[in-house]
Amino acid sequence: MQLNVRSTASGARSSTRSRRMTAVVQAVAQRAGTIDVQRNENFGKLRAGYLFPEIARRRKAHQEKNPDAKIISLGIGDTTEPLPKYIADAMAKAAAGLATREGYSGYGAEQGQGALREAVASTFYGHAGRAADEIFISDGSKCDIARIQMMFGSKPTVAVQDPSYPVYVDTSVMMGMTGDHNGTGFDGIEYMVCNPDNHFFPDLSKAKRTDIIFFCSPNNPTGAAATRAQLTELVNFARKNGSILVYDAAYALYISNPDCPKTIYEIPGADEVAIETCSFSKYAGFTGVRLGWTVVPKALKYANGEPVHADWNRVMTTCFNGASNIVQAGGLACLQPEGLKEMNAMIKFYKENAQILKTTFTEMGFSVYGGDDAPYIWVGFPGKPSWDVFAEILERCNIVTTPGSGFGPAGEGFVRASAFGSRENILEAVRRFKEAYGKRN
Ligand SMILES: Cc1ncc(COP(=O)(O)O)c(C=O)c1O
Repeated sequence: MQLNVRSTASGARSSTRSRRMTAVVQAVAQRAGTIDVQRNENFGKLRAGYLFPEIARRRKAHQEKNPDAKIISLGIGDTTEPLPKYIADAMAKAAAGLATREGYSGYGAEQGQGALREAVASTFYGHAGRAADEIFISDGSKCDIARIQMMFGSKPTVAVQDPSYPVYVDTSVMMGMTGDHNGTGFDGIEYMVCNPDNHFFPDLSKAKRTDIIFFCSPNNPTGAAATRAQLTELVNFARKNGSILVYDAAYALYISNPDCPKTIYEIPGADEVAIETCSFSKYAGFTGVRLGWTVVPKALKYANGEPVHADWNRVMTTCFNGASNIVQAGGLACLQPEGLKEMNAMIKFYKENAQILKTTFTEMGFSVYGGDDAPYIWVGFPGKPSWDVFAEILERCNIVTTPGSGFGPAGEGFVRASAFGSRENILEAVRRFKEAYGKRN
């Protein structure tokens, strides 16, 4: 009995002790989890995450609700065809070479291998006067766009085509170049509306002067390619305003219209105002392989006369350590006669997909844009919120598209269909669209 009493008392004492210990441990744990670092407030301004993760989330939810649905994605612009053989073989050879003493190489030049810089300069810019040392090879255009922003800091003002590739706006927000989101767009960004009324080229007579202008041709998402006359107007606008033009030519090789330049440097005076970024992603199926380039002409100078080229060199040598040597071998192969043939065949294939989609939507009576000089079709659903159209197409057709409003306020009422996909999937998508929407007219 006594023993029992004693043991109960000591049990009570020990459980009090253990409660105290737990409280102390919890307090320490809580303290350890309390970071005294403020979040970069600009990240709080970003809306509902990046567009494509949100699409992926909704697709996943739809698949979970409909486990048997064979979803086709015409959403994110990701390539689907296997790498062409000559190009893939060059990378395989480079990879195998790394396992030999003679073939091994470590870090390379941050700006890219000389042979590849030469090949890019002569293949794409020979007629437009760009030298190899103005070409910087990278791991892709998206990364370059983010790094380009580092050169400008948080003070400059920014203009974008509306709609446009979301990375221009989101990286500007992260840098602190904008105010808050006002429900339509970000305060401080000049949204240059591009719609059917202005043939998807902004009315520059109404556009406000900004320090930086992001411009993408052929445009993602509208698929519109700017003509020589339009780009001349754009370059003159930038020159008149003392602005820097960041020109995204990621889809330039998809251009068929001979009146649409494949590089901004075909326009006289562009070398004094424009940076151009481009990529092997959509030319050779390198979306996962990762290889692109950015051109910074030596003639491009800041207000104080210092060359932008020197700062870009500093950014790339500080924040980047060179594209993979295996991948650069693939890039070099792309620019040999055999590789160019393979690349052009791949582009032709996706352009045929684009025509199949465009013809289908046109025949069904929709207003359809793009698709001739770009792998994107821009389909109008006037008066309907584009996330609702996205949800309806997913529900009725098990097809993922991209809601136009995700590319900017003027994208409302449109969805983008991407022509990247196997022929089988594109034809099946077309069949489903016709079944669901074919009775419109
Ligand atoms: C207009 C535009 N620029 C750049 C990129 C990104 O290219 P990369 O794969 O080289 O990062 C994309 C990708 O979809 C794009 O649409």
